Amino acid sequence: MLEQRNPQLNRNGELIHLLSIDGLPREVLIQILDTAGTFLSVNDREVKKVPLLRGKSIFNLFFENSTRTRTTFEIAAKRLSADVINLDIARSSTAKGESLLDTIANLSAMHADMFIVRHGESGAPYLVARHCAPHVHVINAGDGRHAHPTQGLLDMYTIRHFKRDFTNLTVAIVGDIVHSRVARSDIHALTTLGVAEIRGVGPKTLVPGDLREMGVRVCHDMTEGIRGADVIIMLRLQNERMSGAMLPSAGEFFKSYGLTPEKLALAQPEAIVMHPGPINRGVEIHSDVADGKQSVILPQVTFGIAVRMAVMSIIAGNSA
Ligand code: CP
Repeated sequence: MLEQRNPQLNRNGELIHLLSIDGLPREVLIQILDTAGTFLSVNDREVKKVPLLRGKSIFNLFFENSTRTRTTFEIAAKRLSADVINLDIARSSTAKGESLLDTIANLSAMHADMFIVRHGESGAPYLVARHCAPHVHVINAGDGRHAHPTQGLLDMYTIRHFKRDFTNLTVAIVGDIVHSRVARSDIHALTTLGVAEIRGVGPKTLVPGDLREMGVRVCHDMTEGIRGADVIIMLRLQNERMSGAMLPSAGEFFKSYGLTPEKLALAQPEAIVMHPGPINRGVEIHSDVADGKQSVILPQVTFGIAVRMAVMSIIAGNSA
């Protein structure tokens, strides 16, 4: 039987697309985090540019809304000196019924070198990668509930920056895990990087028991879930992906699972609070925590630029 090759890696095990953290070797994750570290200083220079992707055309294709991911991909590409094209999906021919693959074929005819794809359908970036010419690279910027690999990587960068070593950490992921592509990417990355304990915290409707098969300790009680944690990753309720009522109310959810200063006091004194954004104040997180001294939510966004620079420069340097 033919061995199934990971479509993100070439025959030498080098990254050519970034579609998911699942299945990526630890060495590739470390390479991305280390490379991001070298790019961080570019953001502090007067001229915030390096010529690594000069002459390359990078297309941002966001079929779903975004503030952080779309903007930081654009900033990252520009800092690498690439030409960036942001397709305005709402005004594009998608609205006239053009299929995703026809759109990709037409943009490829404009000499695209890289596609950054966010899509509501899980697997859409894989489809794009399968239909591109071998020299074209694809990065998943979030597909359905499936994966958000650059968010997972910037989360790992943030944790390493503040905590140095992964192996002694307890990481609690709190909230709407069942609909979260970020949670899935974080769990794969944290597992590969060897954290001591991952906890999935939330109500039964939002934290599925089968998370245990991924090595996650499931906690339906918030007190148990965050007690002694070193890192708390809060998630918003992803109402756009919920079918039917999964919760009594946002107010009830906040009472049981919202992160308040009182609940945060149960974690380690030096615990950091993360959130991929957008945050919903008073639903999953209290403003005093979101804006408090343990919050690293805005540094996550800044690190996202360096991490996306790293991913783009690494894949552009590898051929199929
Ligand atoms: N974290 C994240 O994906 O945010 P955006 O939806 O604003 O890109």
